[in-house]
Order: sequence, then C-alpha cells, then structure tokens
Amino acid sequence: SARVVVLVSGAGSNLAALLAAHDDAAYGARVVGVVSDRADAGGLDLAREAGVAAVAVRPGDFEDRAAWDAAVAQAVDVFRPDVVVLAGFMRILGPAFVGRFAGRTINTHPALLPSFPGAHGVRDALAHGVKVAGCTVHVVDDGVDTGPIIAQVAVPVEDADDESSLHERIKIAERALLVETVGRVAREGLRVEGRRVVLGPR
Ligand code: GAR
Repeated sequence: SARVVVLVSGAGSNLAALLAAHDDAAYGARVVGVVSDRADAGGLDLAREAGVAAVAVRPGDFEDRAAWDAAVAQAVDVFRPDVVVLAGFMRILGPAFVGRFAGRTINTHPALLPSFPGAHGVRDALAHGVKVAGCTVHVVDDGVDTGPIIAQVAVPVEDADDESSLHERIKIAERALLVETVGRVAREGLRVEGRRVVLGPR
C-alpha cells in the first residue's frame, strides 16, 4: 500500500474517513502518520485511537516561519510518505515543505476552486450568493489553493443555509471525494500535464 501522511488542524472528519478506508488492502493506501500544527487537534486523537502515530509541530515553538516549515517537513519525512494529504490543515506551508513533497501533496478545499480559495471558502461562497457550492481535491503548488485540480464535486446551496449547515453538507461529499481520490492516486499514480492532472500509469 502507498504510505500516506495526513496533516490536520481541526476535528479530522476527513482523516477519519481515510482511517475507515485504509484497513481494506484493496484500497491501496494506508495512513502511516498524522501531523498537526495544533496539539489540541481532534485529528491527533482520532489517529492515536486508530493506532497511527500522531505528532504536533507548533509554530510557537519555532524562531520563525521557515524553521517551523522545515520542522513540519522533517516530521512528515520521518514517515516516508508516498502521498501527503492536507485534510483541514489551516496554515500555509512554505516553499521548503512544498518543494520537498512536490507532485505528491494533495489538499482538500471546501469550495469549487478556483472560486473561493483561502481559509473561509464556505463563508465566501455563501456571501457571494452562489447556488452551487462544492469541494475540490487538488495538487499543492506554491500558491494558496491554486494547484492543478484532481477532482471536484458540486453541492447545492439551500435558501436556509448558513455557513455551518452548508459546510456540513459539503463535508459529506468531501469525505467521499477525498477517500476516492486518495485511493486512486495511491493505486494509479498521478501526473501533472500543465494545468491538468491525469490519473493512471504513464
Ligand atoms: C474541511 O472541509 C476542509 O476542506 C477545510 O476544513 C475542513 C476540515 O474538516 N479546509 C480548509 O478550509 C482549508 N482552507 P475536518 O477537520 O473535519 O476534516
């Protein structure tokens, strides 16, 4: 199985979905480590309960951003990942990290990119008045939510939605999309041709 390291900042419901999938050998991917920027992230507990190593690398413990970035990269590298998944990781990783795992780091975002990048994708989509929201799984590049798109799913906005209700509906679709996409990337491989991602062997 492909070795997957997951980075989380929050509750970790996307991580939980990956952990629920990975015991099936046919899935082709196994979460071997979880890294967080917060010691209190629920995702760390979920990992430990599943018997997966989990570590926090907190920005406050480092001189500057570059030192933290290098420490996160080091913590991830210890697990020898084939694929790195950002699943609700709410900090921007710098060039040292992105370069080290280039082409094998993927992020899940709760909006239909390139619309509504950043930390408040759901809020921004709702404020814009869109009628179709959704989620995106993409390859991480140097920008914020700018990398080549692997997969997307549309989710309808309802009149009564607030940020929380819409985000919950998106997260149902997002978990399924992330599990499916990580499995496909693990089993088939991924290559980037310009802006387009192609899954499958060369
Ligand atoms: C997910 O919806 C993820 O797309 C989003 O945070 C949520 C994490 O939920 N990420 C971002 O907004 C990144 N900019 P989880 O901790 O329950 O998986």
